Amino acid sequence: MGNCLDSSAKVETSHSSQATSEISRSSSKKCHPLVPSNLLSSLEDRNQNISSLTTSTPEGEILSSSNLKPFSFSELKNATRNFRPDSLLGEGGFGCVFKGWIDENTWAATRPGSGIVVAVKKLKLEAPQGHKEWLTEVNYLGKFHHPNLVKLIGYCLEGKNRLLVYEFMPRGSLENHLFRTCSQPLSWAVRIKVAIAAARGLSFLHEAESPVIYRDFKASNILLDAEFNAKLSDFGLARAGPTGDRTHVTTQVMGTRGYAAPEYVATGRLTSKSDVYSFGVVLLELLSGRRAEDNLVNWASPYLGDKRRLFRIMDTKLEGRYPQKGAYMVTNLATQCLRSEPRARPRMVDILGALEELESLKTTTRISQPIQRATLTLTNPKSKTEAPLLISHQKSPRR
Ligand SMILES: Nc1ncnc2c1ncn2[C@@H]1O[C@H](COP(=O)(O)OP(=O)(O)OP(=O)(O)O)[C@@H](O)[C@H]1O
Ligand SMILES: [Mg+2]
Repeated sequence: MGNCLDSSAKVETSHSSQATSEISRSSSKKCHPLVPSNLLSSLEDRNQNISSLTTSTPEGEILSSSNLKPFSFSELKNATRNFRPDSLLGEGGFGCVFKGWIDENTWAATRPGSGIVVAVKKLKLEAPQGHKEWLTEVNYLGKFHHPNLVKLIGYCLEGKNRLLVYEFMPRGSLENHLFRTCSQPLSWAVRIKVAIAAARGLSFLHEAESPVIYRDFKASNILLDAEFNAKLSDFGLARAGPTGDRTHVTTQVMGTRGYAAPEYVATGRLTSKSDVYSFGVVLLELLSGRRAEDNLVNWASPYLGDKRRLFRIMDTKLEGRYPQKGAYMVTNLATQCLRSEPRARPRMVDILGALEELESLKTTTRISQPIQRATLTLTNPKSKTEAPLLISHQKSPRR
């Protein structure tokens, strides 16, 4: 476990050719947000992002219509037993997450062990961009309610302290389940269930009346409840999508190595298809059990279009217990999400439809069985101008 009191581990970059080389030079076990160095445009970015959502309140720019509970710092101190190390749930680039307890009716902090469990994220005071991302998170999660977005219960803004109080997700992050050797391997069915839930969360954001680009889709931001229902967390980097005739928004490059779309890293041009690329990377992680930052896309590329070599990318922890047909379909989807031309990537709603269809097939075909191929084209009324989503089906052999 890292040190929560250490200075921030984030990496600075901006959308320039230098940024690209910065990314390829640095490699770390944990992925870090690509934090911009240009303060001026950062303020511009923040204003565009927040102004349409907020009204002035004594607490700054917090959305007045949100139902979030404002907590005092001492309340959260009590709820987490003074942020004791044994309450620590995890640590990210922005700070530590602690387990806490609040009263289920009044939401006042209670004695540990009574009331309901919550997750309290305490931002490192010295984190660059900390306030901006804290505010974006409060305003987006305070506004959106969806079964596949983690619920934000409240916040604390007191002096320099910035905290967020979320519903507790007992099974932690997808990252922990996929990559920690001590955790029980996820079954194929659970992997598909997680992919569907995450696709629902992203589709909801992309198809909202005022679309939102999530910008930090990755395994550590997909949290799991007791039944492995997945919810997206961490909206600190979310951006309002382009409006009117605009095809993209230009912004500083922020995100996580291995997940960020190449055209976004190179140019700073952000579209919802940047999220689709990241979704493709997470699909590869689900298939292979390998981390994105280990050059996963390059490593998997030679095998993606080849049915006979598909088994080479599959997670050995599955021990072959996955349907060959389903695995090939997911590989095919990942390939489309990872296309270098953003417009050629499918939309999240189409990806969701394809995954739901795959789940409904409930096939048990094994990798060793023969394959026949058929192609299904899914079209979404909203995506007439987009590339059709091509799903390769392999017919199950007759029994
Ligand atoms: N609501 C929650 N319920 C349970 N555990 C949580 C919750 N939120 C976060 N965690 C745990 O805390 C860890 C750290 O989360 P955090 O979002 O701060 O960082 P991260 O996503 O791992 O990294 P980064 O800062 O790069 O986004 C998560 O991986 C998860 O294990
Ligand atoms: Mg996170």
